[in-house]
Formats: sequence, C-alpha cells, structure tokens
Amino acid sequence: PRIAVLFGGRSSEHDVSIMSASNVVKAIDASSFEVVPIGVGRDGRWFLAELGEGGALPAVPQGGTEVALVPGGKGRLVALPRGEAPFELPAVDVLFPVLHGPFGEDGAVQGLAEVADIAYVGSGVLGSANAMDKDTAKRLMKEAGLPVARGLTVHVGQVPSFEAVKAVLGLPVFVKPARQGSSVGVSKAETAAQLEKALAEAFKYDRKVLIEEFVDGREVEFAVLEAPDGSISVSVPGEIVPAASHGFYTYEAKYIDADGAALRIPAELPEGATAELQQIARGAFLALGCESMARVDFFVKADGSALVNEVNTIPGFTNISMYPKTMAASGVAYPDLVGRLIAHAVA
Ligand code: DAL
Ligand code: MG
Repeated sequence: PRIAVLFGGRSSEHDVSIMSASNVVKAIDASSFEVVPIGVGRDGRWFLAELGEGGALPAVPQGGTEVALVPGGKGRLVALPRGEAPFELPAVDVLFPVLHGPFGEDGAVQGLAEVADIAYVGSGVLGSANAMDKDTAKRLMKEAGLPVARGLTVHVGQVPSFEAVKAVLGLPVFVKPARQGSSVGVSKAETAAQLEKALAEAFKYDRKVLIEEFVDGREVEFAVLEAPDGSISVSVPGEIVPAASHGFYTYEAKYIDADGAALRIPAELPEGATAELQQIARGAFLALGCESMARVDFFVKADGSALVNEVNTIPGFTNISMYPKTMAASGVAYPDLVGRLIAHAVA
C-alpha cells in the first residue's frame, strides 16, 4: 500500500511538524508501505516531495508538482503542474497527517480526508476539533466529571477587566489562544499591564482566548492508544521538567533550547496516582471523542491531585516528544507504534 505522509502545514507548528514527520517516516515499515511524502506549505498548498538519502524527509518543497486529492476518489491523487495539463498519479491508500495545530490537527484535514473517502490516521473530525479547542475541550471534560483548571473564555473585543479576572482566578494567570499547540502565544500574567500584553499576544493567533488559573504542579503526560477493536491502552506517565530558566514549558524550552527541559519516564507519582490518572486520561480521550491516539497532559499538584491541562490528537513525534517515548517505555516501540496507528486507520 501507498501511504501519504502530510508534513509542514499552515499552522505556527509548521517546523515542529517537519521534525515529527521525519521520525514517523523513518518508523514506517518500508517493506510493507511505500511512503508518498506531501509537503504542505505555510500557504496551505500541497507539493509532492521526494524522500532523500536513507529515507530522510526533505524540506517542504517551495515549488514542483502541486497535488490534490480527488473528492470521493478513494485516494486518487492528481498532479497539477502550473500551466500544464493535470495528470493522475498512482492513488494513495492511507493518509497520515503528521500536522500539528490548526488545519492539521483540528478536524480540517480530517474533513478533507472524509470527503476524499480515504482512510486516515488519528481522530476523526469531531474528536480532532474538540481537542484542538481548549474551551470546548474543557467544557466536555468538566461535564464528564474530569478535573480541569478554572478558566475564563474571552472573545476578541469582549475582554474582562484585570480586576474581574483577578477576582475569579487569582494571580498569576495563564493566557492561551483557544486553538494552538506547542505553547505558541501562551504567556503568564501577574499585573494589569502583563495581562493586556498577554491577551494581545494570544489574540494574534485566535479570536478566542482562555485565561486560566495558575496551577502549581508538575507536568505529567500519558500516551493513549486505541486498538482497531476499540480497546484503549494508556502508557506509563512521563514528566516534563522544564529548566528553571524558562519558567514554564515554552516553545523555546520545547524545541529551541536543547537543555530547555528534561523528561522523566516513568514519572514518579504517589502510590495509586498512576492508575487514577490513567483512568482520567482514558476518560478524557472518550469525552472528547478521540480515536486511535492522543496524548493527555496533566498538572499534578504536591498533594497528588491532578488536573487535565489538554489533549493532543496529533501529539509531537519529534526527538524530544513524549508520546512515542512513553509508548516505548510501555512496551510499544516506535515502528510498532506507527504500524498500529496505520492498522487502526485501515481497519
Ligand atoms: N503540539 C505539540 C506538537 C505536542 O502536543 O506535542
Ligand atoms: Mg498541545
């Protein structure tokens, strides 16, 4: 079978996606699948890419053969050379969107795959959209009785006063675009001036922003993997220990600064906490309607209680990413993991 791997993308996690996709491509069993890499430009156009030496993923092509999936085409792929007649390429059997953030992880590309009638890896349209939107995700998890941080959802042009925010959430607060990943546009605010600046920053990325209470806790994450028969397994916990210099797990701490954070796998948690959090991670996966895979991120407080911070339906697969590492520590090595994700897609 031919598997189209989408990488790059329109979101601000374009570069992160390339790092993730490089690892995914290497982990795909080349004896069973032919990888068709498709680079998605920052402008959203799809270009056919070619794997380099040893199966390395190239940069997103800036030109070359533009391609498109045909609606209802079951993987029919068409090349659209500029100024020349379009022609049909060999069809693809599965789509693996290794895209993070808006247009890739939020249900948009999943909808495109549905319309094209092609199997794809990961959650469907609704699960993807639910998890991407931190406001919707929080409401659904709350309704399912899962613990989440207190927050205010604010829309552009309807921002509450600093005093009102302080009265409801205390200080400091975290300000986040509702639909972003990798901590892009996220900042901490303690004063009125900082709140104003943090909101302006977050509104650069979304018209909807969350202001959340500050939670003093450790960042602990679990990988969730669903088998084709619907049975769900949850990994051992992994902990992210951001370097003190970064204050919290920022974009820089994640991907730019090699010493920005350390991972502890498995994380050491109080007696009984691991099983309890695994149960909550499973609950979050189901509450949001996720399928196949997700990484569920928690804050664990000193007393052992925990809050779900967020759910990522296309978690990072970069060299420092927790999803594949916690799965590996739970007995599912990288190539096996990627094989299982593809098996779920085609089941
Ligand atoms: N959004 C990044 C890729 C993650 O969740 O790992
Ligand atoms: Mg995220």
